[in-house]
Amino acid sequence: MKRLWLVPLLWASAAHGATDAAADYQQHCQSCHGVNRVGSSGPALLPESLGRIKPAEIRQVIEHGRPASQMAAFAPLLTAQQIDALVSFLQQPPATPATWNEQDIRSSHRQLADLSQLPSTPQHHADPLNLFVVVESGDHHITILDGDRFEVLDRFASHFAVHGGPKFSPDGRFVYFASRDGWISLYDLHNLKLIAEVRAGLNTRNLAVSKDGRWVLVGNYLPGNLVVLDARDLSLVKTLPTHSRVSAVYTAPPRNSFIVALKDVNEVWELSYAAPTPNFEPRRIQAQDVLDDFSFSPDYRQLLATSRKAGGGQVIDLDSGKVVTDIALSGMPHLGSGTYWQRNGQWVFATPNISKGQISVLDLKTWKLIKEIPTLGPGFFMRSHSHSRYVWSDVFFAPGNDAIHLIDKQTLEIAHTLRPMPGKTAAHVEFTQDGRYLLLSIWDREGALIVYDSQTLQEVKRLPMNKPSGKYNVGNKIEFAEGTSH
Ligand code: HEC
Repeated sequence: MKRLWLVPLLWASAAHGATDAAADYQQHCQSCHGVNRVGSSGPALLPESLGRIKPAEIRQVIEHGRPASQMAAFAPLLTAQQIDALVSFLQQPPATPATWNEQDIRSSHRQLADLSQLPSTPQHHADPLNLFVVVESGDHHITILDGDRFEVLDRFASHFAVHGGPKFSPDGRFVYFASRDGWISLYDLHNLKLIAEVRAGLNTRNLAVSKDGRWVLVGNYLPGNLVVLDARDLSLVKTLPTHSRVSAVYTAPPRNSFIVALKDVNEVWELSYAAPTPNFEPRRIQAQDVLDDFSFSPDYRQLLATSRKAGGGQVIDLDSGKVVTDIALSGMPHLGSGTYWQRNGQWVFATPNISKGQISVLDLKTWKLIKEIPTLGPGFFMRSHSHSRYVWSDVFFAPGNDAIHLIDKQTLEIAHTLRPMPGKTAAHVEFTQDGRYLLLSIWDREGALIVYDSQTLQEVKRLPMNKPSGKYNVGNKIEFAEGTSH
């Protein structure tokens, strides 16, 4: 008797798996992850948001939750089939596409402190230009560190997954953060206080601050657009549709402009902010290829981009918009993480490679390859300082990623390989403003920030931290110092 109705029921539940998952989502997840999965107290759960996570990890999070967070384990509540259905449901775009318009941006804006009531001088005893802003991605916190004493001045919760590197106002007083889900936060380093925040998009790549400190530009994957904010309070100035995902935005100080990398079209955009009231109309530079991983020459006249068509990299003159040269490089160079320095009176540029264990060193004038330095594995970050003898380069994508290479900037040989915490990933270095010390990240939930003397390579201090993904020195950033990221 039973079989007669069991078969159609099973069939029905498979066909309606998506609907069941939608209902389960509404019942169990929506209160935190938001209507249409755009996020609320919990992060957004759209395909763009989950892009970096493997389906197995999505399942793992739903089954077992995340430690020390609101995300509970659902294995006791939902069947394996229900969880499977939710995993595939979350990887599909919502039935009604998620939108985020100017009205949404405006209503998300929050003023958290009144700047006019706050002192305009540092209210702490540290050197304001030698502070470090540390992003701890393990538990989504920001730490403000005194760069002389290496002591914590403040530590506060950030929005979920701050990424793309915080950016500073030209005087170094304010720092701007972008989170994966589009939250932009403004923090006052003099008063150690959050000032304002706004949600500029549903899935954001990064932000840039204009040289004059008046504008913040945000680049979004979802919706595909650019958002201009007033840097004083993060109020909305303008949105510009790009009809493409935005890979990254940069500020080009000598040009008084923002440069925009686009993911889906063969164009590079330049937005001038030189006028007293800029209209932010893009100048579109036609490219031969999708160019979405950039670096610039020190004078910002030339753009260096990873290009599949060029079989490596392509150099573009930003004034004429013309291709200067193609640079054949094997593997997948990660030009955006490259760095430059002076060697025998010439500028050289070095780039890691995300698919090959090598560093390519190029002459910045002729763009000829000088050397390929073999490493223990594909790397991600390269950092140095004008006072440092070495470039520090990780082996992020290799099994032995607890190692970090120190490359001699003159001989172009690996001079030292350190293993600061065996078994744990060593990555991302930033120097103090004077270059005497450097801070290295151990990317682990039980990780650390290790301070080294940059000359003797002796460890000076070790601060335990929760996956300190990046750290940024105020002085080096506002000076666009050689050796650091921009
Ligand atoms: C009480 C609030 C709450 C509820 C209910 C909730 N979540 Fe979460 N969820 C969170 C928070 C907060 C996080 C972020 C945890 C962290 O810090 O990593 C999260 C993280 C996640 C992540 C990982 C996202 C990422 O990008 O790393 C997934 C996937 C997820 N939740 C799925 C679900 C599903 C499916 C449900 C319903 C069955 C659900 N959650 C119910 C609060 C909640």
